[in-house]
Amino acid sequence: MEENIMEANALESDTFETNIRPQRLEEYVGQEEITSNLKVFIEASKIRNESLDHVLLYGPPGLGKTTLAHIIANELGVNIKTASGPSLEKSGDLAAVLSTLEPGDVLFIDEIHRMPKFIEEILYPAMEDFELDLVLNSDGKSRSIKIDLPPFTLVGATTRAGDISSPLRDRFGIVSKLQYYSEEELLKIVKRTSKVLEMPIDEEAARLIAKRCRKTPRIANRLFKRVRDFALVGGYSIITLERLQQVLVKKYLQ
Ligand SMILES: Nc1ncnc2c1ncn2[C@@H]1O[C@H](COP(=O)(O)OP(=O)(O)OP(=O)(O)O)[C@@H](O)[C@H]1O
Ligand SMILES: [Mg+2]
Repeated sequence: MEENIMEANALESDTFETNIRPQRLEEYVGQEEITSNLKVFIEASKIRNESLDHVLLYGPPGLGKTTLAHIIANELGVNIKTASGPSLEKSGDLAAVLSTLEPGDVLFIDEIHRMPKFIEEILYPAMEDFELDLVLNSDGKSRSIKIDLPPFTLVGATTRAGDISSPLRDRFGIVSKLQYYSEEELLKIVKRTSKVLEMPIDEEAARLIAKRCRKTPRIANRLFKRVRDFALVGGYSIITLERLQQVLVKKYLQ
């Protein structure tokens, strides 16, 4: 029973994330310098019929790196394959994900600063020449093989840019630092979430969430979700400032 509830919760939070995550560049609020540059680079890569340069996204948690990685794939009209730095433990793990790529696809590696050093070294020729150099050990003998890869775009994300070695960093053609959001931008995000979840919120309440979310969209959405629960249970059809404040007083929103 408890398991079912946990599963249901996990499912709810997955759908919640999927629903409120913007899918296209034009829905992505703020980070204007990054999005306007990306628009040009994506367009240019389409005109040239080449894969987009590798992209490194860095900045604090919850600012939209994963969201942007998916948007890049959507805008390019390609598939996205995802992996995370710590999950790539053996060269075979990287080879397995690289072998699923089709021309132009996006490979998204989250927490790329946590990738083992030797995996990073296998990634260098893959990024530069779309070649995979593997050493195979069998019968006590080792031989190296080269596998051609289709051109692809690596999108790496990290909260700790300082932990990325410079040879890896240098292999990204596009390096972007995500900034904290302004109150106006967060207000837009809260209103968008309200629309997507079909739970109206008045201007003052939306503004208060925008103020209380530590400049971070993920926190704004989490606050919205908590208040929405109270509104649903209380049978309210709109989130007002007064109701939001009642919830805030209960310290559910810290
Ligand atoms: N620019 C944006 N416009 C609208 N919503 C956004 C934006 N950026 C982030 N969000 C929302 O905030 C949530 C968190 O974003 P995301 O998961 O992309 O952050 P992240 O930078 O990958 O965080 P982490 O470092 O923890 O992996 C997303 O579900 C998305 O709905
Ligand atoms: Mg992320």
